[in-house]
Amino acid sequence: LDLALILPDDGPRGARLVEALREAILSGRLPLGAKLPASRLLAAQLDLSRGTVVAAYEELISEGYCTARVGDGTFVAVTSRPTPRREAAARIRLSRWGQRVIADSPVSADDQRPRIDFSPGVSPESFPAAALARALRRAVDRIDGMPAVGDPAGSRRLRAALVAHLGRTRGLRADPSQVVVVSGSQQGIDLSARLLLDPDDRLCMEEPGYPRARRAFQAAGATVTPVPIDASGLVTAALPADGARLAYVTPSHQHPTGAVLAPERRLALLQWAEAHDAWILEDDYDSEFRYGGPPLPCLQGLDRSGRCIYAGSLSKLLHPALRVGYLVVPPALVPAVIAAKQTLDQSTSMLTQEALADLFESGEIERHLRRASRAYRARRAQLLAALAATPLPGARVWPLTGGLHVFIELPGIAPTALRRAAERRGLGLVFGDDCFLREQPGTRLILWFGRLPVSAIAPGIAALAAAVGEATVRRLERPSELATTHPQQATAIGVGE
Ligand SMILES: Cc1ncc(COP(=O)(O)O)c(C=O)c1O
Repeated sequence: LDLALILPDDGPRGARLVEALREAILSGRLPLGAKLPASRLLAAQLDLSRGTVVAAYEELISEGYCTARVGDGTFVAVTSRPTPRREAAARIRLSRWGQRVIADSPVSADDQRPRIDFSPGVSPESFPAAALARALRRAVDRIDGMPAVGDPAGSRRLRAALVAHLGRTRGLRADPSQVVVVSGSQQGIDLSARLLLDPDDRLCMEEPGYPRARRAFQAAGATVTPVPIDASGLVTAALPADGARLAYVTPSHQHPTGAVLAPERRLALLQWAEAHDAWILEDDYDSEFRYGGPPLPCLQGLDRSGRCIYAGSLSKLLHPALRVGYLVVPPALVPAVIAAKQTLDQSTSMLTQEALADLFESGEIERHLRRASRAYRARRAQLLAALAATPLPGARVWPLTGGLHVFIELPGIAPTALRRAAERRGLGLVFGDDCFLREQPGTRLILWFGRLPVSAIAPGIAALAAAVGEATVRRLERPSELATTHPQQATAIGVGE
């Protein structure tokens, strides 16, 4: 293929060519192992003599950027070193929104999958791959009959199916016209923040809470007021007495602890919102999987004053890669949400929505939910048994009553030490430290068990226990590296309950 080179304006032609090739290599446009064009070809393209190109290649070889393989050609020998995102952004003038968005954004994800991966995801055996593939195929066959872009509120069939499903399983009360399908609940949260929060408006959320939601609120310029949680969820008595514009909550399965908001606190939250004319954004993100009694109905179903916005997602029920979620909003808010959705991205993929509507209507979702619940129950039992058999030194394990993760606090351990010890063992861990607005001593883990093969659970916990043990020893040897200096006794709550 042709190589687009940007030759600098000044200097001898050979030096300009070397500089342009160096730029292409360092920027990653010519990656490690890429073959440089044949010298004759490049010379003809750039109107240079072949000798100039050969000399430029030799210069790059002598600098270590390239290697020559006799009879084969010249190849790139180094990996690019892309400029870190934030460093690059500092050089350009971003809008205030851009500056806020980048200020707290996490470092880009590492693509390498660890040997034992406790990160979020869905197990292949509890994903209805064949049924979804068939439904997508049918949607493709019907594509001619679909509007080119689609209703920004979403597929009529999918909205009706969602209302029926959520009415039955979550106690949601709504008409399909109140549903707007969004690209993952993240978009629903962002959209709510943009529509309802002005810079400096106050927003309350659980502490610890969901960091991706917090980033969306901070990007909107809102001031985040953390409200503590305990074993019964949000401490409603600690909600600001002078109100707020919006409270973001995860009542059915608090993120990250898993606490369920107690019934009397649900009523207290609704009363507080009514008294202060505040919105409630209820994120019901993984209410599908419960391991105790029946789930408590959602807050939206209890709301009589039209101030509850319900955000949900198919990321846990089906797969996060679908990027399909939904907002269910009071009727008065519907036109604004539809207009905002259309402005942001016109609509969520209609092809995917139509396929999902098929899955709901044919009863496939219900069958899948039963199968997936069984699979996750088994995983959960394995995980709790493994934690009971190999306790993590000094850990506080939160009860695992629902969802696909367990929250673990390790008060006496520095995250850096545990990260190193886990990496050495090929363990992929999600650290929960950014769930806190205020910096905390110690370490927290969000251990996801959805994607981990059942056979990897016990070895994974054994490796984690060894990593925690190593990080503890390090703490005793090098106290200066630590977040806290108080050795903790092992207290495991909820394990095997
Ligand atoms: C609290 C919370 N809300 C929502 C989601 C799902 O987000 P999305 O629908 O954008 O995939 C998650 C995923 O882990 C979550 O933890």
